[in-house]
Amino acid sequence: MKNNNHIQIFLACLLTVSMTMACGQLSGESVSPSVAITAVIVPEEAVGVEPSAGTSGLGDSLYPGFGNGGYDVDHYTLDIVVNDVATSNLSASTTIEASALQDLRSFNLDFVGFIINGITVNGEPADYYRKGQEVTITPLKPLVDGQPFTVVIKYMGSPEEMQSVALPVQTGWVTVDGGSFVLSEPDGSASFYPVNDHPRDKATYTFRVTVPNPLEVAANGMLIETLEKGDKTTFVFETRDPMASYLATINIDEFDVENMQSDNGIPIRNYYSTELPAEVRKPFARQGEMLDYFSEVYGQYPFEVYGSMVMNTEFESALENQTLSIYGIDMIDYEDVEGTELTVAHELSHQWFGDSVSVADWSDIWLNEGFATYAEGLWIEHLNGREALDDWVKSQYADVVDNQAYYPAPGKPPADDLFNGGVYVWGGLTLHALRLEVGDEIFFEILKTYFERYKNGNAATDDFTAVAEDVSGKELTEFFNTWLYNKEIPPIPVMELGVE
Ligand code: ARG
Ligand code: ZN
Repeated sequence: MKNNNHIQIFLACLLTVSMTMACGQLSGESVSPSVAITAVIVPEEAVGVEPSAGTSGLGDSLYPGFGNGGYDVDHYTLDIVVNDVATSNLSASTTIEASALQDLRSFNLDFVGFIINGITVNGEPADYYRKGQEVTITPLKPLVDGQPFTVVIKYMGSPEEMQSVALPVQTGWVTVDGGSFVLSEPDGSASFYPVNDHPRDKATYTFRVTVPNPLEVAANGMLIETLEKGDKTTFVFETRDPMASYLATINIDEFDVENMQSDNGIPIRNYYSTELPAEVRKPFARQGEMLDYFSEVYGQYPFEVYGSMVMNTEFESALENQTLSIYGIDMIDYEDVEGTELTVAHELSHQWFGDSVSVADWSDIWLNEGFATYAEGLWIEHLNGREALDDWVKSQYADVVDNQAYYPAPGKPPADDLFNGGVYVWGGLTLHALRLEVGDEIFFEILKTYFERYKNGNAATDDFTAVAEDVSGKELTEFFNTWLYNKEIPPIPVMELGVE
């Protein structure tokens, strides 16, 4: 259907005497005359296959419009100059290196707000129009299946305030007093860069962010360069491993940076807002131990570096940004270091399950949150033994029973309440129930095999249950059906847990 529209556009251009006007109007935003005229030459007849439009969504079961079809991004380079920190006024350019997955007459990116100053594809100006969060780009020449291509989008302005469709919070780039932070799960990335915004299209990133002195930048991966020029400094970060778009983060503040290493040599760098007191560091002191412990349980830590960042702002959330988890100051309880440590273990565990193994569909979110919640239990068990774990399991179970009305089954999260207690608490208990069903040894073998098989990629719930069946040699359909999709949480008879 889209394809037909485009053919009509070409015909209209061909037949219209005032070519530039007609093509410019049809495509919504102006385009240079040479572009319009060249675009009339449609080469597909020659080969008999028509390049078509990439889809405007990736068909996610909860959010069908997220992401785009027809291509796969390999690398994003975000060049951002922060002109004004108070308003996050940016002059920016995003370079996308991608490959076509089909012959493409046009393709889409997700992008919200800003003024676009121009788009090129393979160095030549491309036509584009915007509708909602979709930018539809029609390159001069159709893109060929399997071929790499480069898109450069130049834009300026301040990121728009954006409400997430998945939970009632502001998502994406958030400007605060004296700086800004990014919290994008699941749909905020488009608030600061044009993106194929679905975890199924992972890519590596370069961030080149220029801020006025003395501000600093913290982003994913390794800081490979800082360039001071006049009263501004450019911070260059690179990620080694592919990453889901919602985990991309750029944060601007003045930071105290704390460097350390796990016993097994995993580098750690933590960023703390300079205004924060020294005690803020306490719950993060054991991250090295956690990295080594979870490496033993799940498989080797998958990234080049880890660390946490605490902003001097309350946002009732933490997020497992790849290699650099972020915490609102209200996530740190100075009075309860051990309790806060559980949140730290949660975000750190997400690096394996969530970040390295990413959801194939947002409805698989319990594979992130259930696993990270169970990691809290594993950390308790590691420190204090099995009885402590059992106590924790009982309190988690009681939580689900008390909140049954608000905690839907983990396998069926509603689109407008993605991060509900069901995917966290009931999801975590599902893993404990599995452990009791197959025994400790096989359970941990399942976690390792699942990670080994899907690291640096994506997995769906069925992929996990298939691994569980493979490794255990047990038929677990019934087990997972009741744990993931039942209206009511199943009992755990050996622990005398059930809904009375
Ligand atoms: N994944 C986060 C966690 O570890 C939750 C993120 C919720 N999204 C948000 N924009 N606050 O629990
Ligand atoms: Zn989580």
